Amino acid sequence: MASFRTLDQAEAAGKTALVRVDFNVPMQDGRVTDDTRLRAALPTITKLRDMGAKVVLLAHFDRPKGERVPSMSLKPVVEPLAKLIGAPVRFGEDCIGEEAKAAIADTPAGGVCLLENLRFHKGEEKNDPAFAKALAELGDLYVNDAFSAAHRAHASTEGVAHLLPAYAGESMRRELEALDAALGNPQRPVLGIVGGSKVSTKLELLENLVAKLDRLAIGGGMANTFLHAQGHDVGGSLCEKDLADTARKIMDKAKAKGCELLLPVDVVVATEVKPGAEAVVRGLDGMGADEKILDAGPKSVERLIAAMDASKTLIWNGPLGVFEVPPFDKATVDAAKHAAQLAKAGKIVAVAGGGDTVSALHHAGVAGDFTFVSTAGGAFLEWMEGKALPGVEALKA
Ligand code: 3PG
Repeated sequence: MASFRTLDQAEAAGKTALVRVDFNVPMQDGRVTDDTRLRAALPTITKLRDMGAKVVLLAHFDRPKGERVPSMSLKPVVEPLAKLIGAPVRFGEDCIGEEAKAAIADTPAGGVCLLENLRFHKGEEKNDPAFAKALAELGDLYVNDAFSAAHRAHASTEGVAHLLPAYAGESMRRELEALDAALGNPQRPVLGIVGGSKVSTKLELLENLVAKLDRLAIGGGMANTFLHAQGHDVGGSLCEKDLADTARKIMDKAKAKGCELLLPVDVVVATEVKPGAEAVVRGLDGMGADEKILDAGPKSVERLIAAMDASKTLIWNGPLGVFEVPPFDKATVDAAKHAAQLAKAGKIVAVAGGGDTVSALHHAGVAGDFTFVSTAGGAFLEWMEGKALPGVEALKA
């Protein structure tokens, strides 16, 4: 793995640390409804406070597109964050200029200050050098702890990293280490699971993975497109028929690269997607025109579990079926439980990521047993696609 400067190398005592965090949290009626991302920032905040630094948090919320949109203020984050930290959090009504400077001046050494939404300024998303300079003026060192925003080349994730001594925060470091263990420099054999509804949203990811993995299981609605490309009738299932050629190209590339593709060998079908709907297990042929494939079948899961047993590393993105609607959660839950058992027993490094995947693992009750679960959405996908993430590149030593 390329090396990054970490907080252990930082001289932070008596200094002001600008810390880019991802506080793009779920919010309803001005209240934070899920504080996972606030908690993720705690190790870095605590470490810097213990080192004697003043901690200035930089964050975005939603997409105000360079306008000051009151409903997109970061102010509602102050109270839950202060509770988690166990200390007051000063709020700056702007993220640059006099207001930001005054809020920071008012924060004691070892204290914490959160600045208003970066995206209230157009310069943030444009990575405008003048805006990056205005941010850099606020502190002595820069820490990026927002892997989930690292796919954006914005002033606070990229530009400012070149203007101050820059370090990876604790969550960023953990995330990069886990991802490296899963795909950068993994123990082989490596098995991937990619699910979700559409091939079209995961083309680059599939192309990259077949070149890197020993085995790749494809599930969810996107598997239907592959089954159709192989000549199977998928009845009334979700299927991107226009992508049959693309699916065939991915299958050819997998063969050429020595990656074994595991497509479903049996499926669970129903005529309606509703909780408790009658689910029928079918082989790959003989589907009725009104039947939809909603989950992988038991033989497919058995084969996937055997592939896990034969692997040292697992990387998972996307559910195997419509897990939100039981009983079509069975394949995802059974596979997740088995992966979790192997990870808990130290037999496999199991890394998962992406919004749906995290929900599916929580639904199966096993998210805590995986080696690492990334809560990053777009950044995790881009990393799985093999793309360089600007916010990570800017931290390389
Ligand atoms: C996220 O929530 O995935 C990150 O904060 C990035 O947000 P964005 O997609 O609005 O850039």
